[in-house]
Amino acid sequence: MTTQLWIEGGNRLSGQVDVQGAKNGVLPILAATVLTRDVCIIENCPRLSDVEASVRILRHLGCTAWWEDGALVADTTNMDRFDIPDDLMREMRSSVIFLGAILARLGAAELSYPGGCELGPRPIDLHLRALRELGAEIEDRGGCLRCRAAGLQGTELTLALPSVGATENAILAAVGARGTTIICNAAREPEIVDLQRFLNACGAWVRGAGSSTIMVEGGATLHGCAHRCMGDRIVAATYLCAAAAAGGEARLTGVDYRQLSTVTAALTEAGCRIRSEPRGIAIERAGRLRAIRPVRTAPYPGFPTDAQAVLMAALLRSQGATVFVENIFENRYRHVDEMIRMGADIRVEGRVAVVCGVESLRGAVLRATDLRGGAALAVAALSAQGESTISCTEHIDRGYEDLARDLTALGAKIRRIQA
Ligand code: EPZ
Repeated sequence: MTTQLWIEGGNRLSGQVDVQGAKNGVLPILAATVLTRDVCIIENCPRLSDVEASVRILRHLGCTAWWEDGALVADTTNMDRFDIPDDLMREMRSSVIFLGAILARLGAAELSYPGGCELGPRPIDLHLRALRELGAEIEDRGGCLRCRAAGLQGTELTLALPSVGATENAILAAVGARGTTIICNAAREPEIVDLQRFLNACGAWVRGAGSSTIMVEGGATLHGCAHRCMGDRIVAATYLCAAAAAGGEARLTGVDYRQLSTVTAALTEAGCRIRSEPRGIAIERAGRLRAIRPVRTAPYPGFPTDAQAVLMAALLRSQGATVFVENIFENRYRHVDEMIRMGADIRVEGRVAVVCGVESLRGAVLRATDLRGGAALAVAALSAQGESTISCTEHIDRGYEDLARDLTALGAKIRRIQA
């Protein structure tokens, strides 16, 4: 049963929404439960297809996992396998995040890793180099990884670039290694801080997450814990951009405004009024938005690549031209052609996209190309005259619990329909 999103644009927003738990926070935490050999209760866990994919992997490994009172419970006591089959790997490419934890738990891990995805090649060389420095022997047979580690040994390692996934894999392997590990040039994303919180609640010793240098004292026997996931800062950025695009006002709760400072700075420069609140953020947009200084995506705390498409969507009708430079992924402008179908004026040259604001956009028949690009089409459709439909919503469902539910709460005219 395929569904589409139907949107009637041109209406100002007004409403409030509690932002879901963070997809990119919960995925490494689900991998980390493997290290506890116990029961972990994950509260504020978003109900996403990527989370369901992780649950299928845990069950394949011999663990059990179930939803109880709104929380996801994982029991990894009886884990008895160390392989992730190709079909499960292909469902979600970030499944590679299980590698370090499986290796630390069982001394062996086998998984395939498909090549690129819709964002371009997704290499894992930094993951593998970090695990090898921790003592893993990894045979890479053309897409199938065979890893063995009699015992992982703590070490000092430096990542060639601050990769989120490689940082997380290194932390999880280091927790299961003997001795001290220092990870230099680590990614600083808030989701890594949340992973540290989870691991320390389970009895691990991890320090420095959020900075470029992370220290791990490995070898402790871990136990389960109850952990409340952080709010999803990219979902929050999406909803802020929706209010900026449609005009009106919105209040978001359940998210830390400090984690969105580059996004709120851009929207403020464009002419929005943004107020931080104890448990969230409020945004108001009255007049026409203005173009802003170049938006260059960068590792945290720089402007998040995951918010590039939704900010672009918000600026399609702004006054003037805004330059975007996508520095993280090679192919992250696939939403541009769909926006042009709505009357947007965007020119792409390699990593650079120039958005020239237009007076108006028209609703169109649209197709989601990837997770954040799909959400960006919904943002653009809110500011277009007339009706739009968006197909291939499975991309959007990977990261948004219920985009139609949340945007409706903000006053948008949007619903999910049968295709
Ligand atoms: C995480 O992906 C997020 N996914 C992505 O969110 C996010 O866009 C990305 O970090 C950057 O913030 C999850 O957390 C599940 P990286 P990840 O390793 O870990 C290169 C979304 O929309 N690289 O920081 O895969 C890589 O090619 C998703 O929610 C290597 O060269 O990102 C990219 O250019 C999309 N070798 C850059 O680093 C490696 O071994 C950043 O990738 C690993 C990465």
